[in-house]
Amino acid sequence: MRSPKDFFRPLAVGAPDPVREIPFRPSRMIHFFDPSNEKMAAKVPSIAPKVDILLGNLEDAVQADRKEAARNGLVEIASATDFGDTQLWTRVNSLDSPWGLDDLLTLVPAVGHKLDVIMVPKVEGAEDIHYVDRLLAQLEAKAGLERPILVHAILETATGVANVEEIAGASPRMQGMSLGPADLAASRRMKTTRVGGGHPGYLVRQDPDAANPEAPRATYQQDLWHYTLARMVDACVAHGLLPFYGPFGDIRDTTACEDQFRNAFLLGCVGAWSLHPVQIDIAKRVFSPEPADVAWARKVIDAMGDGTGAVMIDGKMQDDATVKQCRVVAELADSLAA
Ligand code: GLV
Ligand code: MG
Repeated sequence: MRSPKDFFRPLAVGAPDPVREIPFRPSRMIHFFDPSNEKMAAKVPSIAPKVDILLGNLEDAVQADRKEAARNGLVEIASATDFGDTQLWTRVNSLDSPWGLDDLLTLVPAVGHKLDVIMVPKVEGAEDIHYVDRLLAQLEAKAGLERPILVHAILETATGVANVEEIAGASPRMQGMSLGPADLAASRRMKTTRVGGGHPGYLVRQDPDAANPEAPRATYQQDLWHYTLARMVDACVAHGLLPFYGPFGDIRDTTACEDQFRNAFLLGCVGAWSLHPVQIDIAKRVFSPEPADVAWARKVIDAMGDGTGAVMIDGKMQDDATVKQCRVVAELADSLAA
């Protein structure tokens, strides 16, 4: 049987980070569906070709008395559907819940050959990943699976954030991480009551005008998630994993959703969760580089020749570091077009 290590391309000698590379597959949105919801389940064959990743959710948002129905529903859907190039993931219940173990024991033998990634919620440390890793190794061996199932951790507790590095490096099965702002807010005892996005109370105010101290002052809303997202991206890149922003709960506020997704894209994330079909197109648009940015990147790459030295283009200095940034943008565009 192949070990998870064989799955990854070996590092070229002298290559810079990432430490290892995960073979490219478009991963701009992880589209959630509830397999216990018959209406949603019936739409899977028509939604699958429209998304990069389809995820059967067994955890939060599935009612306690529907957990078994969700698990069995996912087995049924996974068995009956040809997902083509779309990745199939599941989010199992947390390891301290009454359902997490049964999720793994049921899904791997039944549909492990179809599952690309198992998303593990509320990961607090490397030991959680080691537990899932060992269990998967046994279940895969028993089922005769030829391809290892990868693991994706949700970063959504204060302890998890404190241990983000060790989680990222816990196993060669680690595929990536998502920021889970809703559970993280609760775990941190933040005073928000929403799923992701900003808050009108979290702001900075412009200094008073010395000549007119009573004049109204502008305020600027701040990003509640910047610190955690940046920390998660660094941990992921250092260990060769893919970082994702998680859910945006206000489905009607497509503008704020797009802003949140774009911040994540600019900070290094490859994708975000979509909780409703309207968020699929937002994610597709945001996590694909803009044609104008790609054209600019190619112009810099061409002008920089072997990538060393410095050139001026339209009054802007370009050097070894900017050409590397431009390669990131151009390579993403090429990979998505391939
Ligand atoms: C996702 O699971 C979150 O808690 O935000
Ligand atoms: Mg959560």
